[in-house]
Amino acid sequence: MPTEAQSWSPKSWQTKQLHQMPTYANVEELKDVQRRLESLPPLVFAGEARDLKKQLAKVARGEAFLLQGGDCAETFKDFSAVQIRDTFRILLQMAVVLTYSGRLPVVKVGRMAGQFAKPRSSDIETRNGVSLPSFRGDLINGIDFDDASRQPDAQRMIQGYHQSAATLNLLRAFAQGGYADLHEVHRWTLDFIKDDPLYGRYNELADRISDCLAFMEACGMNSENAPMLRETDFYVSHEALLLPYEESLTRVDSTTGEWYCCSGHMLWIGYRTAQLDGAHLEFLRGVQNPLGLKVGVGTDVDQLLRICDVLNPNNEAGRLSLISRMGAGNVESHLPKLIEALQVEGRQVVWTCDPMHGNTHTSQSGFKTRGFDSILSEVKDFFAVHHALGTHAGGVHFELTGQDVTECIGGLVNVLDEDLGNRYETACDPRLNAHQSLELAFLISNLVR
Ligand code: PEP
Ligand code: CO
Repeated sequence: MPTEAQSWSPKSWQTKQLHQMPTYANVEELKDVQRRLESLPPLVFAGEARDLKKQLAKVARGEAFLLQGGDCAETFKDFSAVQIRDTFRILLQMAVVLTYSGRLPVVKVGRMAGQFAKPRSSDIETRNGVSLPSFRGDLINGIDFDDASRQPDAQRMIQGYHQSAATLNLLRAFAQGGYADLHEVHRWTLDFIKDDPLYGRYNELADRISDCLAFMEACGMNSENAPMLRETDFYVSHEALLLPYEESLTRVDSTTGEWYCCSGHMLWIGYRTAQLDGAHLEFLRGVQNPLGLKVGVGTDVDQLLRICDVLNPNNEAGRLSLISRMGAGNVESHLPKLIEALQVEGRQVVWTCDPMHGNTHTSQSGFKTRGFDSILSEVKDFFAVHHALGTHAGGVHFELTGQDVTECIGGLVNVLDEDLGNRYETACDPRLNAHQSLELAFLISNLVR
């Protein structure tokens, strides 16, 4: 009898319970698309995924901090150099703020270059008495409310692949081609208005960094001879939801002979697809990428331990990041028992906080939104719980954009319920805008310290 570990293959998920998976009407077309994807180059390299795992191992040990963020759902429509640059830039700014006050390296991971497939609470969306299949992200079907758009279309995977490749290409250029050089810290300022309190605060910090750099330059250390000043590491991640796509991008690494899913560096399992006997766990247990797992108020302690056995049987630090999404007000009652159970067994995990997905509600004006105060409150409680237990609050996970959208309520530049309609552009969940994101980074930097 083959052991469970031996019986894994990139296709073995197909024999398990499927959750949140579309049914393609044309199976031949799906197979054809998968064959095409299999023949295309990997989007990321196994060595990069291993590097990220090493960085995350530092987070697990309390020696680094994880910043993960980007769109709830990337789209084919909002795809441009400006979009990518602005998301990259806000993450860079947030990382600088957190690194400076936390005195810890910040591991930067975008929800980018592959974050196209969405789990949905309901299979059906009804408008004015008409019911159609729900929109599941551009990798699966179209957002327009008509029957043709809402049918799953396998060809979308090809477009998703190419968009991810182009996004990654630009991100690599930004990270390594000079844009992320620390000497540019002043130039990353968003298009702030001068009397904005954040403008002053960010510039003050940028001045201090520039002073440090000038001192180091005088000592002989500059962008030319110290690549860590010139370049940064930037990784990409997404929810590994659409398994035919993920399967087709899974390759054997020639260096180690191990399987890696080469659609992104880090892949996570969503809250709705974390069933022990489900297809998503089966698929992800067999690839060596760093993995994320969403945990929430419904996560059972014993079940979590068994999921850790499946996903991280060797208890390797950096392999598994637990992304806590409890909702403001639920952290103190639900998180400590999970942390303690893992601590007792000596499980090596990264604990990170997603303060977005437990705090979604419909506003009076009818928009799906999140309040800045609830988001901050969940993060604060997350840090407080870890502080009390002596464990490391390892990171944060946000849905955000570098654009000036009005999707979440609150913040210093107070977005009100009646403002939501002005620039509500998300294809799925409400994102923090650039200003709200930077403000949060400053607030969190006080906690990291
Ligand atoms: C998400 O991260 O976009 C998401 C759907 O989260 P969750 O699985 O935690 O609900
Ligand atoms: Co979301």
